[in-house]
Amino acid sequence: MIEGMNFEYTHDITVVNREQFEVHVRLYEGYVKKINEIDVILQNNPRREKANSTFSFFRECKRGETYALNGVILHELYFENVGGGEGVNVANPSVSVQLEMDFGSYNNWEEDFIATAKASRGWAVLCYDQRSQRLRNISLDAHDLGNIAYSAPILVLDVYEHAYFLQYADDKTEYINRFMENINWEVVINRMSIY
Ligand SMILES: [Fe+2]
Repeated sequence: MIEGMNFEYTHDITVVNREQFEVHVRLYEGYVKKINEIDVILQNNPRREKANSTFSFFRECKRGETYALNGVILHELYFENVGGGEGVNVANPSVSVQLEMDFGSYNNWEEDFIATAKASRGWAVLCYDQRSQRLRNISLDAHDLGNIAYSAPILVLDVYEHAYFLQYADDKTEYINRFMENINWEVVINRMSIY
């Protein structure tokens, strides 16, 4: 059984307003409910004997499993890494040195991350690719589409329309810019220190 996390809107969150934030949290809670439903079905032999890659109930369960669980995980990472009050903070060397090493400069990383977000239909993720031992900005078109196996998410930005449309309508660029000013770098630094 997966327990969902509680996310409350606070005034530190400037990237979105309360209404946009709360509707997004409700959507996240839907994924928590769904992965628990799917897990129960999977534990009770969901017609394994008819498993088929074109269409089968078992296939639907397996597709739903990774979609819903990644939906839970990515949203938790996203909600946790917003709310930084001081804008861009690269004073901590553990972040800036690593970003400079892998992207040439902080500014170059930022430019690349913003472009990745604009180019994505689902998520932009700064991750640590353990195979190459370097950071990458990766683009996910869905929760389960584009992840690199054996990589660890460091900074997560939701760019699905549901994340911003209520407040920003079609101004995705403004939403992304406001996100960049509201990153909780403490959370990012903590994640980076694990890898
Ligand atoms: Fe979302």
